[in-house]
Amino acid sequence: MSDGRLPRLSEIPAFAEYIAQGWDSPAREPGLVPGAAEAAAGHRARLAAALPGRTVVVAAGRAPVRSNDTAYDFRVDSDFYWLTGCAAENAVAVVGDGAATVYLPPPARPGDTGFYADAAYGELWVGPSPSLAEWSAALGVEVLPLPDYPGPPDGALVTGSSQQVRQVLAELRMIKDEWEVGQLREAVDRTVEGFAAVLAEVPAAMAGGGERWLQGTFDRYARTYGNGPGYASIVGSGPHAPTLHWVRCDGPVLEGELLLLDMGVETRSHYTADVTRTFPASGAFSPAQRQVHDLVERAHRAGLAQVAPGRPFTAFHHAAMEVIARGLHDWGLLPVSVDEALSETGQHHRRYLICGIGHHLGLDVHDCAQSSHEAYQGARMAPGMVLTVEPGLYFHAHDRTVPPELRGIGARIEDDLLVTADGAEILSAALPIDASGLENWNKENV
Ligand code: GLY
Ligand code: MN
Ligand code: MN
Repeated sequence: MSDGRLPRLSEIPAFAEYIAQGWDSPAREPGLVPGAAEAAAGHRARLAAALPGRTVVVAAGRAPVRSNDTAYDFRVDSDFYWLTGCAAENAVAVVGDGAATVYLPPPARPGDTGFYADAAYGELWVGPSPSLAEWSAALGVEVLPLPDYPGPPDGALVTGSSQQVRQVLAELRMIKDEWEVGQLREAVDRTVEGFAAVLAEVPAAMAGGGERWLQGTFDRYARTYGNGPGYASIVGSGPHAPTLHWVRCDGPVLEGELLLLDMGVETRSHYTADVTRTFPASGAFSPAQRQVHDLVERAHRAGLAQVAPGRPFTAFHHAAMEVIARGLHDWGLLPVSVDEALSETGQHHRRYLICGIGHHLGLDVHDCAQSSHEAYQGARMAPGMVLTVEPGLYFHAHDRTVPPELRGIGARIEDDLLVTADGAEILSAALPIDASGLENWNKENV
């Protein structure tokens, strides 16, 4: 210490002894979302039925490094959460025959050097942490210290290296149980409220806050009433609206232009909504904006009508695309016939709608993406599936094939649907989908 260096506290016996005592016990519950552990037990039973006699190893993951010793927010691996109900960082689960052993980093409490010296696990750094016994009681599984993890058992399928097990899990996760549907309802309901919160800020955004102000408004809402946004919130004003994933959100919110909002709250249980509406920033659609939105609405309604058990998963895609292609042809925007555009060797209409019309939704915004083609695009819809329908039209400001009055107009309508026993329920139906309804909703919320 005489050389001017700061002392290492753990090397000072008097300090170590002093800081080890004099602490009351803080509240240290794992804070699981009610029902998460029971749902995970059901998921493990389904995995055991799909892979009888096999052991699966899945890791919770680590937060990616932001810079040096600073990390991004941690978000648990979706398969890990689905199987355990646990969202702790750096955990490993060994799952088989419906049971699980979860290995967790042990907490560092008064009396442990790490209590004050370990920035990753010390309670003075990260807050009160449950004991492994408390975790075990909450999760209903065996919980052991991570340093005791012996590595994957012989023959185990490890999610980090086995595409096969990721695929099995993705396909199982496609059918949501009652608890999961409840979580997704919550995600959608909070998201609708978030849309209202954003609309209330449109005047402030037009006055100078811009797209970032609205993105920040939604993200603050999502962080307050859930974990945060389930994906980077898209706020696109005017010429930014046609850019599918406009997450830069660094532009102004322009009067008289459309404002495309694609946003979803992720619940504390990690289920996310994925909803889009396109509003006229100043309150009323111009004739050209309405013309585009009306066609997207017709495509959307055609897509929604196809969502029902037993129908091919791609039915809503084809139905919506056909409406879009016909509409574009009527406007003189297709260089070929509707049939040629819709054929597999044409697809000219896709210039203005390059993405698909929808996807599974759940713990991940693009849920179950590791599924096989046969289980996803090639499958039929079934009760318990939750999916999005999201047609749009995207006329870029610099697209010379587009008449000048339509350039710079982008519109999308995205709803979240639950496939039921006899049809579908639109979970996001609280938001209008027609231009007049959106104008009115805008008025009520600004
Ligand atoms: N927000 C991403 C998507 O709509 O799929
Ligand atoms: Mn989507
Ligand atoms: Mn979306």
